[in-house]
Amino acid sequence: MRPLVTPTIESLVPYEAGKPVEELARELGVADAVKLASNENPLGPSPRALDAVRQALPDLHRYPDAATYALREKLAAVHGVAMNEVLPGNGSNELIELFIRTFTTSADHVVFAEPSFVVYKLACLAHGVPFSAVPLRDFTHDLEAMAAKVNDKTRLVFVANPNNPTGTHVGRAAVSRLLRELPPQVIVVMDEAYLQYAEAADYPDCLQLRGERERLVVLRTFSKVYGLAALRVGYAVAPAQLVDYVNRVRAPFNVGTLGQVAALAALEDHEHVERSRRLNAEQRRRLEVELGRLPLTVVPSQANFVFVDARRPGRELYEALLRKGVIVRPLGDSTFLRITVGSAAQNDRLLTALAEVLS
Ligand SMILES: Cc1ncc(COP(=O)(O)O)c(C=O)c1O
Repeated sequence: MRPLVTPTIESLVPYEAGKPVEELARELGVADAVKLASNENPLGPSPRALDAVRQALPDLHRYPDAATYALREKLAAVHGVAMNEVLPGNGSNELIELFIRTFTTSADHVVFAEPSFVVYKLACLAHGVPFSAVPLRDFTHDLEAMAAKVNDKTRLVFVANPNNPTGTHVGRAAVSRLLRELPPQVIVVMDEAYLQYAEAADYPDCLQLRGERERLVVLRTFSKVYGLAALRVGYAVAPAQLVDYVNRVRAPFNVGTLGQVAALAALEDHEHVERSRRLNAEQRRRLEVELGRLPLTVVPSQANFVFVDARRPGRELYEALLRKGVIVRPLGDSTFLRITVGSAAQNDRLLTALAEVLS
């Protein structure tokens, strides 16, 4: 009999999500665990978004607006772009998949960094698209090395800025050079899931760099600073022609009603965004200082997580922290862990557990 799936799908390892608190309670009997594994907002969703969700509940029997009109209208106004340049998705995750499905085949080629957001690689593998995974340099995207991997077949280049899992950023001058120098056929996807947390003076908001390249896609999400990860809403700002092609491929109703109304309300809650940024900046500084006092090395971060070299198998430290009710994220079999910046109380738990485990 023919194999059920292709060899690439056979070899795929499913995306490893952060361990849910409930799972830890089931497996180890640990109650009141703290999850610092999925870069979620410790302040929760915007109260305005919650109100909007409550108001929409009686209409759950209706299909969502397939055109996401109100959300696109608002996003277009916020960013000063045309409505047909805005493409909402079921999380920015879905948009990554959709760009790969829409614009590449097994005869093409994609470039991204490693380690970076694993979905770029997973999506290429799942769709049988060849890729170059370019090692980071000093924990940071090496844009020159990435550009050197671009060839006649390259259709997409993904850059997560700030990068997940390292939290590092690439500056305006280097991004600008990449956008101007890559051949015109290449679609550059700047994934700015953590943009609101970046504080570096040279961090580029790539929506301001749209004039530098026609085929530029900027990805944003409502899962991080807006605190709406459960509702799965992200969006791309892209040339209308690219949006039109992806619209032919995507599933209808890919963004649910609750996600649409919550995202719209969250965009107007500037105070919640500001509070979230301030808390993150303050607690990130605290973690960088206090983790640095432990036998750990911390990579300076522009995001809502820190990347830590445990100088021992990261999984060992991860398992020991689990037993203390603190969930972080190991990075494969490496010595690294990614730890989300939590609330002051959550970070207290983390620091106490780490001190105990490392003593
Ligand atoms: C760099 C990056 N891009 C995209 C995503 C996907 O986010 P979502 O699908 O929740 O919008 C994540 C999530 O962790 C991320 O880290």
